[in-house]
Amino acid sequence: MSTLIKNGRIITAEQDYTADVYIEKESIITIGSNLKIAADDIIDAKGKYVIPGGIDVHTHLDMPFGGTTSCDDFETGTRAAAFGGTTCIVDFATQSKGSRMRNALDTWWKKAEGKATIDYGLHMIITDLPEAHLEDMSDMVREGVTSFKLFMAYPNVLMADDATIFRAMRHTAKTGALVCMHAENGGVIDVIVRQALAEGKTAPIYHALTRPTTAEAEAVNRSIALAEMAGAPVYIVHLSSNDALEKVAEARDKGLPVYAETCPQYLFLSLDDMNKPGFEDAKVVFTPPLREKWNHDKLWAGLKKNTLQVVSTDHCPFCFKEQKELGKHDFTKIPNGGPGIEHRLQLLFDGGVRQGRISLNRWVELTSTTPAKMFGLYPKKGTIAIGSDADIVIWDPEKDYTISVKTHHMAVDYSMFEGRKVKGNIDTVFSRGEKIIQNDKFFGKAGRGNFVKRDTYAGAWK
Ligand code: URP
Ligand code: ZN
Ligand code: ZN
Repeated sequence: MSTLIKNGRIITAEQDYTADVYIEKESIITIGSNLKIAADDIIDAKGKYVIPGGIDVHTHLDMPFGGTTSCDDFETGTRAAAFGGTTCIVDFATQSKGSRMRNALDTWWKKAEGKATIDYGLHMIITDLPEAHLEDMSDMVREGVTSFKLFMAYPNVLMADDATIFRAMRHTAKTGALVCMHAENGGVIDVIVRQALAEGKTAPIYHALTRPTTAEAEAVNRSIALAEMAGAPVYIVHLSSNDALEKVAEARDKGLPVYAETCPQYLFLSLDDMNKPGFEDAKVVFTPPLREKWNHDKLWAGLKKNTLQVVSTDHCPFCFKEQKELGKHDFTKIPNGGPGIEHRLQLLFDGGVRQGRISLNRWVELTSTTPAKMFGLYPKKGTIAIGSDADIVIWDPEKDYTISVKTHHMAVDYSMFEGRKVKGNIDTVFSRGEKIIQNDKFFGKAGRGNFVKRDTYAGAWK
């Protein structure tokens, strides 16, 4: 199969020019002006952008959490991702306490098998790291699982103590892998939460009010100190507040290899969105929680100045009915997480590029190129270049779209951005040269997505 995309405006992290792109089988073969090559399919992309497919390095598909399981599996989740222009994800396999990482990896491969519609990589969530099993981390790196998430929150469930985090970091310093940190002081939050419950404060808003930004900033600071002592890099996931951002900025000013991502929910939603009647606010219960609105401008500035390098989604969807409702009488029982895999590119384009907050190149860099570099996928993915995978999105900058549960493809019964109107959306999506979406129709097949063995951070991010 061959495809010629003609007259598109090619946007990468560094470049912006008009050219034709010729794809054969799974790869980009030639880029040039006025290419005269016969192809099975010729698409005129005049007036449209040709961008590398989005890479979402923070998703939780089919993940057991909070007494239930996230409601998108690898089929529905990756299909929804593709509808939003994302052609590769890195999902989180979770090690069960008392079990080995290898078991978690096998379990997550099975979850994805026959289902993934786009390529996917895996991080490993470490919940248990006895000295005798430290080499399991090397085993994972050999399998292409080159990043590890540890939690400083959720005591007795997922939380790792400082010694465990330090040992994991020291190990990544040897292998070149990367620790991804959920940075919130779980012990302190637990005390505040128990007090709130004792005072009868059980509504969803108390999820947000019991998790202060200082608890996030303290943990970010501590994880940076642990990484510095270990001689390792650290990547802070889902950074939500200016207090935490300042800690990252300080560390980067010192020249430390400290990186951070934020997510659309922290750029577009705030505590002001937690004022709905009844139990509705449970729809935006995730961790870290929504913050005061003034943080938005600070996070946008962080994206512009490269204090933040990546925008991911932390897609972790739970249906309002029956799943979020588990916490109807106690906010601590609301499964934490929100749906977002489908709308990252549209929100960032409309709210970022069109509002003049970030450039077109920066949009591509934040949503595709840097995630690819940081997580060992580049240059196979994350750019439009000869020899790269033909993971390509033809983007229509003028297409109007209203985000809604009525039209989205995620298997969740609500949208966090219900009714939000955006300009700019996908036109056509290619995954490894295969046209998987055109005219709002999906042509991909469940199971066509491959597991991607990733390079290490040290090997890829030079
Ligand atoms: O609330 C969230 N973010 N749920 C997913 C798990 C995590 O901490 O990323
Ligand atoms: Zn987390
Ligand atoms: Zn997450």
